[in-house]
Amino acid sequence: MAIIDTLSLPADAESAAILSASGLDYERVDADGEGFVAFLRSVSRGFLGEEPSADEVESARRALRSRRLIGVFDRAGVEPDAPVATVDSWPSELTVSPGRVAPLYAISAVTVAPTHRRRGIARAMLTGELRTAAAAGYAIAGLTVTEATIYGRWGFSPAAWASDVVVDTRRAHWIGPVAPGRLDFVPRESLPERVSAVHERIRTQRPGSVPGWEGRWRGVAGLTPDEKDGRKVRAVAYRDLDGVERGILVYTLDEGSGDDYTSHRLDIRALFADGDEASAALWRFAIEHDLVARVKATLQPTVPPVQWMVSDRRAVTATLTDHHWLRVLDVAGALTSRRYAAPLDVVLRVDDPLGFAAGTWAVRVDDSGEATVEAADEGRVDVEVTVAALGSLLLGGVRATELAASGAVSGAHDDLAALDTAFAAAATPLLDIWY
Ligand SMILES: CC(C)(COP(=O)(O)OP(=O)(O)OC[C@H]1O[C@@H](n2cnc3c(N)ncnc32)[C@H](O)[C@@H]1OP(=O)(O)O)[C@@H](O)C(=O)NCCC(=O)NCCS
Repeated sequence: MAIIDTLSLPADAESAAILSASGLDYERVDADGEGFVAFLRSVSRGFLGEEPSADEVESARRALRSRRLIGVFDRAGVEPDAPVATVDSWPSELTVSPGRVAPLYAISAVTVAPTHRRRGIARAMLTGELRTAAAAGYAIAGLTVTEATIYGRWGFSPAAWASDVVVDTRRAHWIGPVAPGRLDFVPRESLPERVSAVHERIRTQRPGSVPGWEGRWRGVAGLTPDEKDGRKVRAVAYRDLDGVERGILVYTLDEGSGDDYTSHRLDIRALFADGDEASAALWRFAIEHDLVARVKATLQPTVPPVQWMVSDRRAVTATLTDHHWLRVLDVAGALTSRRYAAPLDVVLRVDDPLGFAAGTWAVRVDDSGEATVEAADEGRVDVEVTVAALGSLLLGGVRATELAASGAVSGAHDDLAALDTAFAAAATPLLDIWY
């Protein structure tokens, strides 16, 4: 099914009717219209942030112009034009296997004012987004979450995990490869372009990744108007022996506790490396930085490669968290989008209380790793799976044989094992940004 540009679509009629029955208006918001400032203020309040300044409004307007903004309005309120709930969405891309991307309906800015919480407004907004995504032809929707307790009820589930990494540099003596290229400091103003260039190359090779956008990279560079640490931001780029820029490290430094000038903290805002050489060069730079006792980085691979590159691996602490949540809307579209590691012939029954993905599907993977998926009758069912579990299995980030313990997947062990062999990821899924 061809993907329709959702920017042109109206707010979902079913959700509009549900909210209208509670006296609420559910409407599109124009990023260039008068309602945008109120929309942004509501988003900021929803995420416990400050009132946006005029500069921040303009900066956010640029970033959100390409998104489908929706507000819920309580016209009986003191500020009838300030939304009591918000959501935005946009057409993105999900890397499903190295070198392969699928259209992704990305959702963000889900907020409901504390004055209007727990009366079903988020439910109306999320189901409205899912209907819009499905009608527009998207097989997969995705988001990143503030809390793990919210989105499972709508069929989202973690598909890529990430680690927060802390390195005690006094224990972490570098024993990793010594990269042959060179490192140079690069100007902060050049970072959005530089970071984007490296990230664009790596994100299509890593399942679970999505593209960034200019506003995201300006944020990494500390160039957005709301940035308090902007002037602390420094960056080095790695160039290989051919002079190709293959890696970028963006960081800030802060004094550590007490009077010890040798115990600074180095906080990594971005470390993107196109290849092992660049990765080693940038991590070594951070860990061997003079006067630094602790290096911190978020959204790193689940088992961070740097653990293998220091003399004391326990000097590197990695705290794992779920990060990229996916929701399958169209089973055939989602499963045929990726390549597989082995042939497969299995009949899947998908349980989806919201209906989008419910059904029985014959899934066959040929010797080249390509899948065909056809609706099947109920005569033979090998594996039963909830739609949430299917989202978690999609990129191969978790095994069916392990999920089976939770009851979210069931079937004979051999069928689950065959699923695992076929779904095995060519690279561990990772999402290295928030969206
Ligand atoms: C999370 C949030 C959007 C929920 O909005 P809401 O309108 O109160 O949610 P709803 O009333 O539609 O709740 C729908 C269901 O989710 C549950 N729920 C809502 N928020 C929840 C939370 N934070 N934790 C656990 N369950 C939650 C409700 O209990 C309800 O459960 P049910 O399916 O059993 O009926 C709102 O609390 C909020 O804005 N939080 C701060 C910003 C934020 O974290 N946003 C999420 C960004 S990823």
